[in-house]
Amino acid sequence: MKERAVIRALKGETLVPPPIWMMRQAGRYLPQYRQTRARAKGFLDLCYTPELAVEVTLQPIERFGFDAAILFSDILVVPDALGRKVTFTENRGPEMVPISASEIGKIDPSGFHDHLAPVYRTVEELRGKLPGETTLLGFCGAPWTVATYMVAGRGTADQAPTRLFAFREDEAFRSLLNLLADKSSEYLVRQIRAGADAVQIFDSWSGVLDEAAFEAYCVQPVKRVVERVRAEEPDAVIIGFPRGAGSLYDDYRQKTGVDALGLDWSVPLSQAKRLQKAGAVQGNLDPMRLVAGGRALDEGVDRILAALGDGPLVFNLGHGITPETPVAHVEQMIARVRGA
Ligand code: CP3
Repeated sequence: MKERAVIRALKGETLVPPPIWMMRQAGRYLPQYRQTRARAKGFLDLCYTPELAVEVTLQPIERFGFDAAILFSDILVVPDALGRKVTFTENRGPEMVPISASEIGKIDPSGFHDHLAPVYRTVEELRGKLPGETTLLGFCGAPWTVATYMVAGRGTADQAPTRLFAFREDEAFRSLLNLLADKSSEYLVRQIRAGADAVQIFDSWSGVLDEAAFEAYCVQPVKRVVERVRAEEPDAVIIGFPRGAGSLYDDYRQKTGVDALGLDWSVPLSQAKRLQKAGAVQGNLDPMRLVAGGRALDEGVDRILAALGDGPLVFNLGHGITPETPVAHVEQMIARVRGA
């Protein structure tokens, strides 16, 4: 069989029109998602129940015909599987007990894969249910981004608690990042073996670090993940999304060895064009253009296509779609990208 379109683009082929999917494409902006969500006890039950996770993963594919499906789960199932229990309370986001430096060495990873077995089952079932041409993406959070939630116990605006912890407890913090890198790479390998065509590493909080900390806490751990995944699965296709990395995006691609770069919306198209010369890029529409719709949306789409359409591109948002987005605007965006 011919390779799926998103995989061809990620490997460097120019496709016209470019393939398209959206970060957080299964989510609260979709009425179908809200219905399924109401049937699950909590958000994590949705992630750990293959029947429901499969259902919500397929919803945006059935409704919009995206070129890729992304496994429905969350980056925080990894600390949850390491015994750092995560809870999601309505409208409060994820919460967990903040980890201390002395607890880091005591993390027991022995039950990790058993805990995540439902996620692997979800991937297997999805591969059987998706249209043949639809790419299936697996994912994990990057060690730094996952660590910010483990250390602060919640999301914060600038990750000050974790930056401070990292500088004060450098040795313990690096061992936490190494553990997360090792378990995350095993997690990605299992997803690939269960049927994922490619995987994305979400480093949503890489933009809050200074240059040296970005190198130590983002680049090096992600490089470790990429190397370990490729040691087991040499042909693995990997997307890195270091949100907010700015001028450090070039460095990130070179040093981590990811195949493709996810670009947030603050990356200028001139820089994106330059980055695209070294390999595929994905992004970078501002999700607020999608909320606004109309001309703001059309112009945003057109600018990306004009700048990046003649090179390897996977059309996407610069970050996840937000719950207030009208479904009709998603349809408008897809039609514009596909030239319909
Ligand atoms: O993209 C997809 O459709 C796949 C599913 C997916 C989710 N989270 C589902 C989700 C993916 C890839 C993620 C990644 C994720 N989770 C990230 C990295 C990407 C990013 O957005 O920066 C982060 C930082 C998390 C942690 C997380 N999960 C937070 C901070 C929150 C609360 C914020 C919110 O939107 O409510 C979540 C919850 C979450 N993860 C929801 C979904 C659909 C909403 C929860 C609900 O339905 O009640």
